[in-house]
Amino acid sequence: MLYPVPAVMISCADEEGRSNIMTAAWAGTICSDPVMVSVSIRPERYSHDVIARTGEFVINLTTEDLTYAADFCGVRSGRDVDKFEYLQLTKLPSAKVKAPSIGESPVCLECLVTGIEHLGTHDLFLARVVQVSVDEKYLDEKGRFVLEDAGLVAYVHGSYLSLGEKLGTFGFSVRKKDGGNRRRAAVRSAESAAGRKKPSSGRAADRKDTRRKKNSK
Ligand SMILES: Cc1cc2nc3c(=O)[nH]c(=O)nc-3n(C[C@H](O)[C@H](O)[C@H](O)COP(=O)(O)O)c2cc1C
Repeated sequence: MLYPVPAVMISCADEEGRSNIMTAAWAGTICSDPVMVSVSIRPERYSHDVIARTGEFVINLTTEDLTYAADFCGVRSGRDVDKFEYLQLTKLPSAKVKAPSIGESPVCLECLVTGIEHLGTHDLFLARVVQVSVDEKYLDEKGRFVLEDAGLVAYVHGSYLSLGEKLGTFGFSVRKKDGGNRRRAAVRSAESAAGRKKPSSGRAADRKDTRRKKNSK
């Protein structure tokens, strides 16, 4: 029920150099220093054993243009089809791992497996990110990644969605110019509606108040 999640394309290559791609929604950032990620993979996936044996994979972010390929890589197995070839994706040599990167992806994270947790249906692969490659066309003149131009995609309850309108940036709720004023205004209006003094914590206190009102009816 957690949403949104990414639908990333995980590329790998076996010992003979035979490459493959699988799609994963259960992937995430888990540590910033060292930079680490995790991905949960079912043991029956073809990629599972390749990654477990080689200890390497690449996380390729998906874009609107890559959505068809991401879905395909999530419903067909590398046991039966060469997904790079079938989808005509560019197989780029990676800088630090033998697993190839996907040329059409705006951001590729090269990963080295540090541990595997057997959880049940899925095995949780913990990995260090040893190289990050960003397609230069998504970098602005200051070298910052321009997210809006990349057409990134989120996966929500079985649907692939484009990212929508920007609603704020990190910390905007407490910044004086925008969120801070809005929050104070919200607290003030809640106070006057309740006809009482300023609560110590706006939202929790307001919620309690609503419940009390409902119960008293
Ligand atoms: C959007 C999407 C997300 C998926 N997420 C996961 C995942 O997080 N873990 C997993 O084991 N399989 C996941 N799958 C299924 C695999 O990608 C699928 O079984 C794929 O065919 C495995 O490829 P392989 O056998 O070539 O490794 C997902 C599929 C889709 C379409």
